[in-house]
Amino acid sequence: MAYIQVEGGNPLKGSLVVQGAKNAVLPILSAALLHKGTTELSEVPDISDVRDTLELLKLLGCRVEKQGHRVVIRAEGHLSGSLPQRMVGRMRSSFLLAGAMLGREGRLETFYPGGCTIGARPIDLHLAGLRSMGAEYVIDRDRISLWAKRLQGTDLKLSYPSVGATENLLLAAALAEGVTTLKGAAREPEIQALITCLNGMGADIREDKGTLIITGVSRLQDSAYEIPGDRIVAGTILAAVGSCGGEVRLEHIEPEGLRGVLEALRQAGMELWTDEVKHTIRARAASPLPRGMKLVTGPFPEFPTDLQAIFMAMLSVAGEESKIQETVFESRFRHVKQLRRLGAEIEVVGDTARIAGGSTLQGGLVEAQDLRAGAALAVAGLAAEGITLISHAEYIARGYEDLPGVLQRLGAHVALL
Ligand code: EPZ
Repeated sequence: MAYIQVEGGNPLKGSLVVQGAKNAVLPILSAALLHKGTTELSEVPDISDVRDTLELLKLLGCRVEKQGHRVVIRAEGHLSGSLPQRMVGRMRSSFLLAGAMLGREGRLETFYPGGCTIGARPIDLHLAGLRSMGAEYVIDRDRISLWAKRLQGTDLKLSYPSVGATENLLLAAALAEGVTTLKGAAREPEIQALITCLNGMGADIREDKGTLIITGVSRLQDSAYEIPGDRIVAGTILAAVGSCGGEVRLEHIEPEGLRGVLEALRQAGMELWTDEVKHTIRARAASPLPRGMKLVTGPFPEFPTDLQAIFMAMLSVAGEESKIQETVFESRFRHVKQLRRLGAEIEVVGDTARIAGGSTLQGGLVEAQDLRAGAALAVAGLAAEGITLISHAEYIARGYEDLPGVLQRLGAHVALL
């Protein structure tokens, strides 16, 4: 088990090139399965979810080359269709391979996807959409077998703008026979990245008044694509500045994807300068932020649920009271108990947490229970007096490329033990 040790009280200073977006690259790795040729990706983050997904692609029969942040996937031959439970069970995004494999080979043997313990995370919307396109499936305990002679384009409507279901149905529709329309789709920037990448591969995906229109094509082509910056990692560093103060410049990040987040930070007292052309954000804050926030998480462009725990950590020391309502996942407050162990005064009633302002956090031993909760504890440790030791830090490595090293290079006293 890995530990991260954080010594609080040092302001951050310096600049950082933000890693490629985890939640963009994972569906794009599935998209590479659709093409019987070569897909070249740059700015791929070196995180365990990516390494695990590349292993799954190899198990399916792809050839994968990885040098630093560059990945080349060759998927010429016949791809076999079964994935191992030990890998699928711990990574929710593995189910994104279903849409691509049904489009490419017409079958996939997999297991019910696992993931972080933030909620039931059903896949009913994925399965309903795939079935409407002509796919059939059987679920036997945890095993899911899916097959389709040839996916057919059809009119689809999502009852909730599920990110994963939108991505799976886009992947399934790219090579389907005919036109698929998708209403009620998620609009996260990572979805736009997937669409841009797929169209660069020769797919035909357009948007008309919020409806996605996918015209199936018979084949795709070799392509190259640069993964955009990870807005949740950028938001994490901004929360770190809001927790222990300082001045940081972020590069390789599109401010547009963080519009609501930046506005909330400004209102709480952080100074921010953005450049949409150079893809940079500069932030400066005294510690702690003078004012609190009232946040409600929701589908883009609402406040991102993935920053909820992280901002709660920062707001634990802000000058005024804050409130955070979590509307996306039904149990995404597991970090509250851990933050309380550091002295945060947080009260949860239903789906809303009230964070008292003006707390002083004391370092202590805490446990990361999922990816973003772990990052939140690191942010809290930066604000706390003394040493904070975070266990199960391997959760953090699922989505952050060397968070301890990144914070250290910005002047924080952080070590991976
Ligand atoms: C993606 O998960 C992200 N993961 C999550 O990031 C992110 O929190 C989430 O989108 C919301 O933005 C990846 O992209 C790999 P959803 P996903 O389908 O696709 C319900 C992180 O920390 N739902 O939009 O699983 C579901 O239960 C991770 O990087 C159904 O009911 O999210 C949830 O309440 C955590 N039926 C809500 O929709 C379905 O078939 C949002 O889920 C699918 C989803």
